Amino acid sequence: MTPPERKKPQDLRSQQWFGRQDRDGFAYRSWLKGKGIPHDQFDGRPVIGICNTFSELTPCNSHFRTIAEQVKIGVYEAGGFPLEFPVMSLGEVMLRPTAMLYRNLTSMDVEESIRGNPMDGVVLLMGCDKTTPALIMGAASADLPTIGVSGGPMLNGKWRGQELGSGTGVWSMSEQVRAGTLQLAEFLEAESCMHRSHGHCMTMGTASTMASMVEALGLGLPGNAAYPAVDGRRNVLARMAGRRIVEMVHTDQKISDILSREAFENAIKTLAAIGGSTNAVIHLIAMAGRLGVQLTLEDFDRLASDLPCLVNLQPSGEHLMEDFCYAGGLPVVMKEIEHLLHKDLPTVSGHTVAENLVSAQNHDPRVIKPFAAPFKDKAGIAVLRGNLAPRGAVIKPSAATPALLVHKGRAVVFENIEDFHHRIDDENLDVDEHCILVLKNCGPKGYPGMAEVGNMPLPPKILRKGITDMVRISDARMSGTAYGTVVLHTAPEAAAGGVLALVENGDLIELNVPQRALHLHVSDEVLAERRARWSPPQPRLTSGYWKLYTDHVLQADEGADLDFLRGQRGAFVPRDNH
Ligand code: FES
Repeated sequence: MTPPERKKPQDLRSQQWFGRQDRDGFAYRSWLKGKGIPHDQFDGRPVIGICNTFSELTPCNSHFRTIAEQVKIGVYEAGGFPLEFPVMSLGEVMLRPTAMLYRNLTSMDVEESIRGNPMDGVVLLMGCDKTTPALIMGAASADLPTIGVSGGPMLNGKWRGQELGSGTGVWSMSEQVRAGTLQLAEFLEAESCMHRSHGHCMTMGTASTMASMVEALGLGLPGNAAYPAVDGRRNVLARMAGRRIVEMVHTDQKISDILSREAFENAIKTLAAIGGSTNAVIHLIAMAGRLGVQLTLEDFDRLASDLPCLVNLQPSGEHLMEDFCYAGGLPVVMKEIEHLLHKDLPTVSGHTVAENLVSAQNHDPRVIKPFAAPFKDKAGIAVLRGNLAPRGAVIKPSAATPALLVHKGRAVVFENIEDFHHRIDDENLDVDEHCILVLKNCGPKGYPGMAEVGNMPLPPKILRKGITDMVRISDARMSGTAYGTVVLHTAPEAAAGGVLALVENGDLIELNVPQRALHLHVSDEVLAERRARWSPPQPRLTSGYWKLYTDHVLQADEGADLDFLRGQRGAFVPRDNH
């Protein structure tokens, strides 16, 4: 194979800042020299932007200064010139009303920071849930050579001899407190034991899922998904990414050369094999939309709903990401499903998908199961349709109660999240375990931002019967660390006038996951009458970013991106600023 042509130094876009001998060239170099940069750094070597989502308000990314330093060392080692820059960070636990409201805003920050600045390639430092899709979406629209480096999961949570998974443990323990079977003092003690190191949530929640997607897409180096944040190999991976991005600039290998339709198909199959978060559906569709790759809800069902889950990790299983790492991590999973993958695709490692998997070895079959004897059958995401979700809704059958996957029940309706919180603990609430809980106005426009409230806690009187799952339906998302028979992402959402808005208490709803059906047993005539009486909820803010967001956000089936952000705009060099 002929080696790819190497880009001439004078053709690097950064040279349009630094390679000039005029007034502006003086300015571009001089201001940087003030921080101690020697003149030879401007001589036509690749300038690498390190896009950092460090923030003390994003605890999952709090170690990113260290990771950035390692990337810088790698860039220097390969003869490049690194320049780190911050973008808006999205802390899943802190940011209200939901970090998802700001995913698209951060993506704009990333895209414009890349385009407007002197850089030839970029390394994305990502960890907490939304930071990963936000950075990839922005970088995809700009389309420079790009590598993703995830921050890595935390060490396993440990509490009183048991493993405690991020999120997953919170959901189950808070239910126990509500049911009166766990003391508040014990609950508070567990807080310090669940999160005891740097890193993102260590269940196979959204952050671990998205870090796995980065690796499965070929946008991250092998090992990206599983090395714990505090493992020395995480730093090595960051350093190697610094080296590799310089080479990718030399050979002009852009993010669009990596993120092909086939790469997304590999990611979708891997998503099923890891039992990954439903949030990945929205994020992958949004990322693909930036690249002009057509990806639909049907692709998830068609390509992967029949695939098994191979990993025994919380929230669907027992173990945590640290165990996944010691078992061999994502390369082992991808090797198990290699026969289903596009094997010859390029990846940022400089090797193909198949080459990256050559040395993968399963060191713990309790954590990673073989394809022939999986942890769970048919673990992919199922896409439901029906009059209640004409544009689709999703469910993760592997996290659901099998007996509830075909279920007909009476709707108990909550108009919004405040209504839910206000009434769910009421002992007089007219509900039993056969009912279906319906939550409205939590979608992209309605919340706004499509919050992770779809896994509604059950009424205490049901919990006290020892019942731990009921069918729940909403236009919300669900934390990747959560579980249950939860129908999510119902589209169109209630606030956009979807049929969900018209559901009333006592209506019969039928869920049939094997048949992919979600039906509201109310006649079209009655629905038309209800629609005539319906008016959309009033937004909390009618100006500022929230206004821009609610005016332009797409529905869940289209990735909830802003309509005007889809597609690539490239990294042309804008006009001079002086
Ligand atoms: Fe950041 Fe879970 S809160 S990954």
